[in-house]
Amino acid sequence: MALSPGDPSSYARPDHVKTTHIHLDWDLDFDKKILSGECILSMEKVDNGVSCVLLDCRTISVSSVIYEPTGENLTFKIDGETSFGSRMEIQLPSGSEKTFKLILKYSTSPECSALQWLSKEQTAGGTQPYVFSQCQAIHARSMLPCQDTPSVKASYSASVTAPLGITVLMSGIRKSDETAEIWNGKKKFKFEQPIPVQSYLIAIAAGAIVSKKIGPRSHVWAEEAFIEKAAFDFADTEAMLKTAEDLCGPYVWGEYDILILPPSFPFGGMENPCLTFATPSLLSGDKSNADVIAHEIAHSWTGNLVTNCNFEHFWLNEGFTVFVERKILGRLHGEPYRHLSGILRWKQLDECVNETFGPESPFTKLVVDLKGIDPDDAFSVIPYEKGATFLWYLEELVGGADQFEPFLRAYFEKFKPKSISTDDFKEFFIEYFSNVEAIKDIDWATWLYVSGMPPYKPKFDESLVLECYSLAENWRNWNPDYPCTFTGSEIKSFSSAQIREFLNSLLVGSALLPAVVEKMENLYKLSESCNMEILFSWIRVGIAARWEAAVPLAVKLVTDIGRMKFLRPLYRDLYAWEAKRQVALDTYTANKNQMMAVCRDMLAKDLHIVQ
Ligand code: BES
Ligand code: ZN
Repeated sequence: MALSPGDPSSYARPDHVKTTHIHLDWDLDFDKKILSGECILSMEKVDNGVSCVLLDCRTISVSSVIYEPTGENLTFKIDGETSFGSRMEIQLPSGSEKTFKLILKYSTSPECSALQWLSKEQTAGGTQPYVFSQCQAIHARSMLPCQDTPSVKASYSASVTAPLGITVLMSGIRKSDETAEIWNGKKKFKFEQPIPVQSYLIAIAAGAIVSKKIGPRSHVWAEEAFIEKAAFDFADTEAMLKTAEDLCGPYVWGEYDILILPPSFPFGGMENPCLTFATPSLLSGDKSNADVIAHEIAHSWTGNLVTNCNFEHFWLNEGFTVFVERKILGRLHGEPYRHLSGILRWKQLDECVNETFGPESPFTKLVVDLKGIDPDDAFSVIPYEKGATFLWYLEELVGGADQFEPFLRAYFEKFKPKSISTDDFKEFFIEYFSNVEAIKDIDWATWLYVSGMPPYKPKFDESLVLECYSLAENWRNWNPDYPCTFTGSEIKSFSSAQIREFLNSLLVGSALLPAVVEKMENLYKLSESCNMEILFSWIRVGIAARWEAAVPLAVKLVTDIGRMKFLRPLYRDLYAWEAKRQVALDTYTANKNQMMAVCRDMLAKDLHIVQ
């Protein structure tokens, strides 16, 4: 069945007709774990000869489609099922208007891959159930029938009813009138997102959620149990926003709030407009994971204003975002910190290219081919780091930040609020820097279309990591049969990022002896770290060393938290340790029903479980 010519992950034909506004009228049923109601699509023909509308959907039941202005019922069919969605074809009446509305009455199913429903027992407070969404890359289609391609942008409005005691939040501006809207044991919440957004930015969360103001345009939202910690850890949000505006131009989305989700949220952060979604595993009590917030703030320009036209060009979203994220961090914490962030993630890139995928894998290209491939399967650190490295390289080539930062602003000006391809970027770059001789040296084809590590490695400033490497070296050289000269004070002055780099460097090359790891644990007590990134890297060092005590720590972490960045490597590490393979499989079986669909499915693949 024919897919969209512009997007291999969608059936929609925005070259025939495109969505200009979406109105959602939803009711949340926590008992049945379904969302039901209406989705009203305002549409405009691009091709006047069009006789049907094609939408994406997945595990959704549609009961009727009504055409406005006439109110007639339209015939439709749903077919073309693939592992990542189906095609919905709606016949337009003869003589249909240039602009019209489709009113779809529908409900989701409990299998909806975009939504995670939690019973009240599964929440921190235990008093109310919870539901949240994660639509990127292509799960919006399981929450509403729509043109689920990032090449289509529409404003949206929503009206959502939920039982009393539940607070509903969406990725827009809150419009609720707190007093008037209660009836029949339910409360109605209203939202508006006036800026056109791609479908994957439609987001909802509902539960016993409270808020606290943390800046002139920002609140944190969380279950009561997390709210104070969240307000503390993300206290620098306004400073980050101001720095980002200085770099990228005005923040156009009005509010910038952060929602701390339940632990099963599968990502570190998600750039839902007006309301970043974040995992509780960022809460460390010392602000040391706030770089994820800098990243999500950067998406307010890169990704949310200038958007990849499909997920083959995902690096335009994530590579640019990492690049801007680092610039924000550099301005707030100094250049060496920007470089430290680059060093930390270069190791992840190396592991991903050379171990996880292999350097020949087509998934290690910057621009990937997603025909017949679920974007979730292609997801990795590659578009992030290979992309950010490319931009780092281009910045140096054209003469540094003084030249490149004005280009970045011109790029946002030129392409907002559009969806673009890599060629659009390339053409604009070449035109903008047409009088810079050096750009003739750029090997575009290798950067964009050849697999493997990037053809250039930035000369990172290593001032913050040399100490980490020499300490790692000393530990490597220590023979546990000889007296130990380490005291425990070695890492006292290290920042969290430095401890992570110390641990990451222990993960490269031959594994440590279990006795060395045991001693390190006695001295540094890293298994008690409040920073989950440190705990994660520490457990990996332990597993690599075949240190038995790492196993229960790994099992606990993957049980407590659903962030795939931690789960996937830990499950893979346990699986690769033959004696512990069964532990990995048993832990997965015990936990899989608590996981979000994307996480459950990705882990099944990692663990070679045939479904
Ligand atoms: N947009 C991504 C998350 C995402 C990407 C979800 C693709 C689904 C499909 C988000 O901005 C992100 O990159 N999060 C990272 C943050 C990190 C790079 C600082 C994460 O979750 O770890
Ligand atoms: Zn991102």
